[in-house]
Amino acid sequence: MTDSLTVRDNRTGAEYEIPITDGTIKAADLGQIKLNDDEPGLATYDPGFVNTASCRSSITYIDGDKGILEYRGYPIEQLAEKSNFLEVAYLLIHGELPTKEQYENWVHEITFHTFVHENVKGFMQGFRYDAHPMGMLMASVGALSTFYPESRHIEDPDNRHIQIVRMIAKMPTLGAWSFRHAQGKPYIYPDNELSYAENFLSMLFKMSESKYAADPRIAKALDVLFILHADHEQNCSTNAVRSVGSSQVDPYSAVAAGIGALYGPLHGGANEAVLKMLRRIGTKDNIPAFIEGVKNGEERLMGFGHRVYKNYDPRAKIIKKACDDVFEVTGVNPLLEVAQELEKIALEDEYFVKRRLYPNVDFYSGLIYEALEFPPEMFTVLFAIGRTPGWLAQWLELTQDKEQKIARPKQIYTGARTLDFVPAEERWA
Ligand code: CMC
Repeated sequence: MTDSLTVRDNRTGAEYEIPITDGTIKAADLGQIKLNDDEPGLATYDPGFVNTASCRSSITYIDGDKGILEYRGYPIEQLAEKSNFLEVAYLLIHGELPTKEQYENWVHEITFHTFVHENVKGFMQGFRYDAHPMGMLMASVGALSTFYPESRHIEDPDNRHIQIVRMIAKMPTLGAWSFRHAQGKPYIYPDNELSYAENFLSMLFKMSESKYAADPRIAKALDVLFILHADHEQNCSTNAVRSVGSSQVDPYSAVAAGIGALYGPLHGGANEAVLKMLRRIGTKDNIPAFIEGVKNGEERLMGFGHRVYKNYDPRAKIIKKACDDVFEVTGVNPLLEVAQELEKIALEDEYFVKRRLYPNVDFYSGLIYEALEFPPEMFTVLFAIGRTPGWLAQWLELTQDKEQKIARPKQIYTGARTLDFVPAEERWA
């Protein structure tokens, strides 16, 4: 067997041998296929990059058919059960698990960079009273590049490291302040005696008490949710981080672009849509009629189906379990019953079985967030905090990948050509 592709161009009769590596061909190799030397060579057309690899990566592995998700080779189930978010962040960034000393240094570094410059607080306070927290988060992360102008020296490993630490450390501070802002409540400073999740909960919910003590079950559930969202290979926001980062801009600007991508309803916003859907269905009796509507193409079963997973999304299984822990503290969200029954009916129905539609990460996460008293606008902020180590691991990999170039896709031009320009005063005469 030869690892190559023989292509015959039926326009010219010419044959080409194109090497196959890792199940891919190089798009640039198609450039040699042309009608004549004056014409551009053959290119591929792939809106949405549905069948195009943009990089080599050793960070996250997904097998969508089998429902497998691994970070640096470790199954997500084991990480969610036995690790914690900061250890997972270390794993994603450094590529291997930390020694005891490395772990303690890492936690210390992240914990002691949670504060932001007072001027950041000042400009966040300038947002409109009802500003969307994602807009505030995106703007404030972008603004950090002006507080750390040395971050543009991305060729320096020590410099890259400190910006990574700062970003993972400060994201909960900026996220919590974005949340407090719309509520008209004072911003709460970080408490460096608390764990990552506990400190975040303190900055979100602390009022006049001298110390905020989060329920450990809630802090643990939040930590697990952060782990589940920490990376998902080349999704829309990671692609945005890599694409903007490929211009060699500083990492704050690249991550701000990722936050912008995540803000969109097709990416970070599906769990809110699940909640709205469950509320509309209301009770279990209404499920059959709803399912019929989905099958007739009148609407979608939100929180079901995935571009990559054609099996149960492994993250959804873990979240389902986290629901039990959270509801033990908060009381059961009445919509859980509707969600569980909906899942049961859908998984047995031929329409969903045939199309391999299973619950995805968003089917249950909204129920947990709502039980934790987060308004829907905050759901995506929580996703962004969890995804930050993944974005940064991918950015770091990009900066060291010799094969990478500035992202600059081709286009198929469909517009007019060689028109004669007539000045405005003549056109309007
Ligand atoms: N409800 C009903 N039918 C569906 C659904 C659904 N949720 N998802 C897919 N289908 C049907 C679709 O109508 C099509 O049927 P047919 O072949 O008869 O035309 C078939 O299944 C294939 O669907 P597709 O739209 O071609 O699949 P896609 O890979 O382009 O879309 C998706 C993936 C996630 C956008 C889609 O499944 C969807 O809209 N799901 C609901 C929204 C949702 O839960 N999004 C969160 C995704 S997980 C977040 C993350 O990982 O970042």
